[in-house]
Amino acid sequence: MRLWRGGLLATLAGDSGWGLVDDGALLVDEGRLRWVGPAGELPPEATGAEVVELGGALVTPGFVDCHTHLVYGGSRANEFEQRLLGASYADIAKAGGGIRSTVAATRAASEAELLAGATRRARALMREGVTTLEVKSGYGLDAATEARMLRVARQLGGLGIDVRTTYLAAHALPPEFSDADEYIAAVCRWLPELHEQGLVDAVDAFCEHIAFSPAQTARVFDAAQRLGLPVKLHAEQLSDQGGAQLAAGYRALSCDHLEFLSPAGVQALGQAGTVAVLLPGAFYALRETQLPPIAALREAGVPIAIATDHNPGSSPTLSPLLMLNMACVLFRLTPEEALRGLTVNGARALGLHDRGRLVAGQRADFCIWDSAHPRELAACFGHNPLKERVWQGSHQGES
Ligand code: NIG
Ligand code: FE
Repeated sequence: MRLWRGGLLATLAGDSGWGLVDDGALLVDEGRLRWVGPAGELPPEATGAEVVELGGALVTPGFVDCHTHLVYGGSRANEFEQRLLGASYADIAKAGGGIRSTVAATRAASEAELLAGATRRARALMREGVTTLEVKSGYGLDAATEARMLRVARQLGGLGIDVRTTYLAAHALPPEFSDADEYIAAVCRWLPELHEQGLVDAVDAFCEHIAFSPAQTARVFDAAQRLGLPVKLHAEQLSDQGGAQLAAGYRALSCDHLEFLSPAGVQALGQAGTVAVLLPGAFYALRETQLPPIAALREAGVPIAIATDHNPGSSPTLSPLLMLNMACVLFRLTPEEALRGLTVNGARALGLHDRGRLVAGQRADFCIWDSAHPRELAACFGHNPLKERVWQGSHQGES
């Protein structure tokens, strides 16, 4: 057993508030939090535990980055330049760039090359406190490359981070298909075998005028449901397609982006208990102006998560800390909502309820920061005060 003591704990224990414990302690046993509370009130079982002094440092739950496209080949910095010259994300996609350009580069990359790139990126996320990471496929768009991406994602688990994989073959129409319905049939056909190989934890789709319709999305969700797999959706990013209502009908874990979410969509998410995942990196990089309906989401009691949405096109960031800041500055989340978004609600967006708070029984995934208060994590940007990342109770000497 190991005892961390003498820190300011932001436990997020209740449904609101930071859950601060001053001069707090965490007792860890076999990768789990056995006890959390004031250091002056240690339970008898803490006697004899190996002690680590926190020296007044801030401790938060480990970050859960619940939406990334971390595995890919190539770069799309050229599109950044094109957008600066006036082209929109949709223009670039329609002209065959965007996702399809990353598909070409990903198909051309070997498994080892994909793993090397994804490993560098996962390490960068870990250096800012990520302990659980979701990774989507969706740059293969054929059975072999989708499988390769998912295998690479699984291998990232060896770095000392939990990885959840999401099948996103319904991301774009690949060049060898001209009929989107035929492609969706293939997407549904490939899924059982990938699932059989243990490569899929959830199923996602891109429901948008430049991608797939609600009816096509529903077919992918039906295929997921037949296998008992939970679903998520890229919904209402560029337009209101009613994707949120559709996803809520499937009790989706999350709907993501949501800038164009309608009042009916908000209600549907609230009733289904679906998490709204907000992605300020994509909003920022695409210079969007339509804000997700934060006040309505709050009012309907929809849990809000935030994530990096790391991908080479719309959100090439590897900084969860910057997302905390952007969620506050751009979306007007409170710093506490932003931190919950990157911890407990991020976990919920992955269907995980055993992490995201510092309370007894949860996994011992936490971050030790050189900060005086958790609000500093959101207020500051462009610097990383992480002192130590603890994953399953073990120090991770990431550098
Ligand atoms: O979450 N919106 C769709 N998918 C990604 C972008 C993928 C890409 O542009 O490569 C997103 O923003
Ligand atoms: Fe995405």
